[in-house]
Amino acid sequence: MRQFTEDTLTDAVVARLKGIKNPRFKQIMTSLIRHLHAFAKDVQLTEEEWFEGIKFLTAVGQKCDAKRQEFILLSDVLGLSMMTVAINHKTEPGATEATVLGPFFAHGAKEFGYGGDLREGATMKGEDVWVHGRVTSKDGKPIPGAMLDIWQARADGIYDLQTSDEFELRGRVKANDKGEYAFKSYKPKFYSIPMDGPVGDLVRATGNHHMRPAHMHAIVSAPGYQQVITHVFVEGDPYLDGDAVYAVKNSLVGKYRKLGAAEAKKNGMPEKSLELEFNFKLSPDRVGAKKARKKIAASDAVA
Ligand code: BEZ
Ligand code: FE
Repeated sequence: MRQFTEDTLTDAVVARLKGIKNPRFKQIMTSLIRHLHAFAKDVQLTEEEWFEGIKFLTAVGQKCDAKRQEFILLSDVLGLSMMTVAINHKTEPGATEATVLGPFFAHGAKEFGYGGDLREGATMKGEDVWVHGRVTSKDGKPIPGAMLDIWQARADGIYDLQTSDEFELRGRVKANDKGEYAFKSYKPKFYSIPMDGPVGDLVRATGNHHMRPAHMHAIVSAPGYQQVITHVFVEGDPYLDGDAVYAVKNSLVGKYRKLGAAEAKKNGMPEKSLELEFNFKLSPDRVGAKKARKKIAASDAVA
């Protein structure tokens, strides 16, 4: 076959996928080719414009290294990350909602027990907060020993990985035998997504802001339950309605209150600390679901 035209080229490219053995890969590639070609025809893409697109994608790739993941950021600002979360995590009633992983997860954070201090080694202070709650099944059964992988930005809105090799404000916090967890941290603040790369240029071109509402990240897991990758946002944050990566869910907005003096003393917190109580609820495992999600987390994450 030769002499392809605007009308025959798409089918010709799809026909050459016939040797793909994995049916799911074949389905994805077929749809991708059809949508890409339809897009080019829809906007009548010029060669100069497509070359600009290639330059942009090249710059995204070149910005990536062992610590910087510009492709995740691109997926996030295009809403594609949250679209895949929405497709794959239709939250079962009562369970904690999932949201984006983001580019700053790292494997291997230090493990803490009940009351652990994630402020250890922090290079910057913030407002002290006692974070606590329970991990239960979606119908309220405590999950002893559930694991919470927590990470958040420093008070200047920068993640440890962006400037250093030392972990900061991260920890794997293990729930006790009643499914209760607690740790000491700082109240998160809103911050800008990384704007010093091609994705930053793209966001600037839209005229939109580039802020994320204050949040801490959590991956909560336990044997027999679906892992949830989520955030806890801060009630009252000015960017809750305009998150640059579309990740806010009402059920994930937490209330920070003043911690009572007796509670502060009991838990070794300074007098004027805050507290955040937030309960995580997990759905029972579905065969394959946990595996797929884990694989995505592991390959996306900077480690
Ligand atoms: C984050 O919350 O760490 C994040 C998520 C998406 C893009 C940039 C940062
Ligand atoms: Fe974040």
